[in-house]
Amino acid sequence: MAIFSSKTREPQVDFSHLPRHVAIIMDGNGRWARKRGLPRTAGHAVGAETFRTIATYAKEIGLEYLTVYAFSTENWKRSQEEVQSIMGLLKKYLLEAIGQMERDKVKMEFFGDLSRLSPELQELCQHAREISSRYDGCQVNICLNYGGRDEIIRGIKAWQADCAAGKANPEALTEAGFSDYLFSKGVPDPDLIIRPSGEVRTSNFLLWQSAYSEYYFTDVLWPDFSKTNLLEAIEAFQKRSRRYGGV
Ligand code: FPP
Repeated sequence: MAIFSSKTREPQVDFSHLPRHVAIIMDGNGRWARKRGLPRTAGHAVGAETFRTIATYAKEIGLEYLTVYAFSTENWKRSQEEVQSIMGLLKKYLLEAIGQMERDKVKMEFFGDLSRLSPELQELCQHAREISSRYDGCQVNICLNYGGRDEIIRGIKAWQADCAAGKANPEALTEAGFSDYLFSKGVPDPDLIIRPSGEVRTSNFLLWQSAYSEYYFTDVLWPDFSKTNLLEAIEAFQKRSRRYGGV
């Protein structure tokens, strides 16, 4: 009988062939809190720390892009207290990240309709974007008030407007050309999408961009997600054979 479970061994990762772009659905904060008899907001607070740890580690190991789902277009349906708490954590994170950007040289971008956020948060996002334009290291994309379907509809409307203004030719639309109308313009599609917490669905995350992404699901709840869990996901990714519809 094996003495060590597979979970106790070190993930074997080839750091010279990392996925360029890893995306994560940060799920399970509420269940993590409930298991401990804590309010859901406590789960989000620990989840925000996990995000910080994983974003720092992503940069350390040399990932080019990390995209995280922080707040969806559907998350406004949650209680006002929970929404306020997530927005408060975002503000805290952005203030700290902006203060450390000069040192960390991490680029930040935001996917989603930011106009529904408070003017203060919008300003912080804009400020982070502006500073980021000076760097070319690891890019962290935070999805805020983001929905994959919403993103596609917005893209279609913007493209239609360009067609009407004579700036785009309706006959000449290509997949690559349409990608430029999405929030993710200029960012390569995610190679690997990780969903913790045992849920096995895409939840409106990067619908267009995930056409050929590899998915990795784990039961670990987001607040417990560790650097080792990230390496386990990358190890699983590196064992897969990506054929993009070919043989
Ligand atoms: C999903 O878990 C998580 C969210 C909707 C919020 C994620 C927000 C953070 C991690 C904090 C702020 C982010 C940053 C970038 C600083 P859930 O609440 O749906 O968990 P459950 O399925 O267990 O209820």
